[in-house]
Amino acid sequence: ERGRKFFAAETTFVKGVVAMSGLPPADRVEICFAGRSNVGKSTLINALTGRKALARASNTPGRTQEINFFQRDNLYLVDLPGYGFANAPVAVVEKWQRLLKSYLSGRATLRRAFVLIDSRHGIKAVDEEILTLLDGAAVPFQCVLTKADKIKAAERDKMLAQVRGALAGHVAAYPELILTSSETGDGIPTLRSTITGLLDQ
Ligand code: GTP
Ligand code: MG
Repeated sequence: ERGRKFFAAETTFVKGVVAMSGLPPADRVEICFAGRSNVGKSTLINALTGRKALARASNTPGRTQEINFFQRDNLYLVDLPGYGFANAPVAVVEKWQRLLKSYLSGRATLRRAFVLIDSRHGIKAVDEEILTLLDGAAVPFQCVLTKADKIKAAERDKMLAQVRGALAGHVAAYPELILTSSETGDGIPTLRSTITGLLDQ
């Protein structure tokens, strides 16, 4: 299928950006992965691209500290620093948060933001803040529930309902949720074809 073929070709690291002035030219379709620290953004990019250590992941919240651009053909995939608790000094965290918010609200070629939500925890107040920012900036977003391997079916259904309920209040939200596990590969083909579908729009 098309998503698999697209991602089978090589994805490469372009650059890490620490200020809006460092962004690469806005000359192609861009998608980004946002979410609380440790939700699994970097790991998901690795699962999507089939490259184990393309984006650096770790168990320490606050691992990704720059806006990392990856390129596959005519697409930029953007790994963002997390929001919420991070294992880093407050002043440093505040700097990333400002950058993150500027990026999310001011990138003309950003076609869709994938907002990752830990399927064990659901949507929290810090997520709501980002979703409201995306509404205000008219950036279409879609939620991806991560770490599906860590929950039981009953718990999963409860979380899906919680997330659906929370999204009802957001004008920029796509109603479809994608449940993924970077561990088992569940949901990865669906996310790949969602992404390749965006290239045709
Ligand atoms: P920051 O860069 O700190 O914001 O974190 P991040 O959102 O990029 O998370 P990262 O990808 O670094 O993953 C955090 C931890 O969660 C790592 O220990 C991953 O191995 C683990 N993890 C990520 N995805 C999954 C998953 O689907 N299942 C399981 N079981 N663990 C996962
Ligand atoms: Mg990361």
